[in-house]
Amino acid sequence: MTHTAVLIPGDGIGPEVAAAVKAVFAAAEAPVRFIERQAGVAAIEAGSDSVLPEDTIETIKEHKLAIKGPCTTPIGRGFSSVNVGLRKKLNLWAAVRPVVSLPGVESRYKDVDLIIVRENTEGLYSGVENQVTEDVIISMKVATRQACRRVALGTFRFANRLGGRKVSVFHKANIMKMTDGLFLDQCRAVHERDYPNIVYEEVIVDAGSMRLVQDPTQFDIILCENLYGDIMSDLCAGLVGGLGVTPGANHGDDIAVFEAVHGSAPDIAGQDKANPLALLMSGILMLEHLELERQDTAAGKVARQIKQAYRAALTEGEKTRDIGGELGTKAFAQAVIDRLKG
Ligand code: NAI
Repeated sequence: MTHTAVLIPGDGIGPEVAAAVKAVFAAAEAPVRFIERQAGVAAIEAGSDSVLPEDTIETIKEHKLAIKGPCTTPIGRGFSSVNVGLRKKLNLWAAVRPVVSLPGVESRYKDVDLIIVRENTEGLYSGVENQVTEDVIISMKVATRQACRRVALGTFRFANRLGGRKVSVFHKANIMKMTDGLFLDQCRAVHERDYPNIVYEEVIVDAGSMRLVQDPTQFDIILCENLYGDIMSDLCAGLVGGLGVTPGANHGDDIAVFEAVHGSAPDIAGQDKANPLALLMSGILMLEHLELERQDTAAGKVARQIKQAYRAALTEGEKTRDIGGELGTKAFAQAVIDRLKG
């Protein structure tokens, strides 16, 4: 069985880390055929009049599977975010981001093993902003019963599938009584009605941030609305070694797009300095998704082989500079390839 996945290299370090993932997948004989499409500044440079070309969207809809490098969002008016646009157009309503301590990667904490689930489609990222007067601008926070319920159900189902892991909902319903209140109500209702066996807690987001940096091992699955999920993802990346080691997946009803948490890192782009591990780990999430959703055991086997290979490389000190090593992007990919076992 070979699966077709759309590969969007993206901007900045995107093409470099995407090339590394392609090289490791080819060496591991992963059952995935990549077809490349553009998004971001790269799409404009390739002649498109949009940072998110229709052809890219349609190809992902056709194959229902994609892996994406980071895309630059130019600051200022006239450019909408590729990532927000992609999530909306493909209705990718949940971002799932595992945060796990890795061997050979120094950080302040040991044994971190948590997952952030972020509602991906609304909240303050709805893009509803208005200039009320010359000096006053408002940004609307949107919460709908349907989207809150959908992500709550998806998260509890996921927690159940992982053997009943604890769910902590981060919120600010004490201040945003209506929007965060609705989010919390839906989480509570799904828990009480469908998953009363799963340990569940409600945590105010500021207190939760403090608890996270005191002892991240007290959390398991953290469910957040859009903005808190965005911030918590980077905060949690910092708990285990940074943005170079945190992967992610965006899930919709039947489409999944895998991408690292990090951005296009223009400060190191084109210098062979980027850590490709976050995108490689996102690729492993894609293989695990194929095993789970399409019953492809071969994909699951390759996922485990690649995971074992990168863990061996890290343990032996073969790593990129952002996590204390000396290797460049290509050399790290080669170090992983050298440790693949059949
Ligand atoms: P960033 O994640 O690109 O970079 C933050 C810092 O982390 C930089 O010092 C960078 O060098 C470092 N870093 C990031 N990824 C790394 C990697 N794989 N290996 C080694 N070091 C790494 O965040 P920033 O600077 O805020 O955003 C840059 C651009 O990326 C912006 O245009 C932003 O909109 C976009 N962005 C895109 C995302 C996506 O496409 N999913 C996500 C986040 C930001």
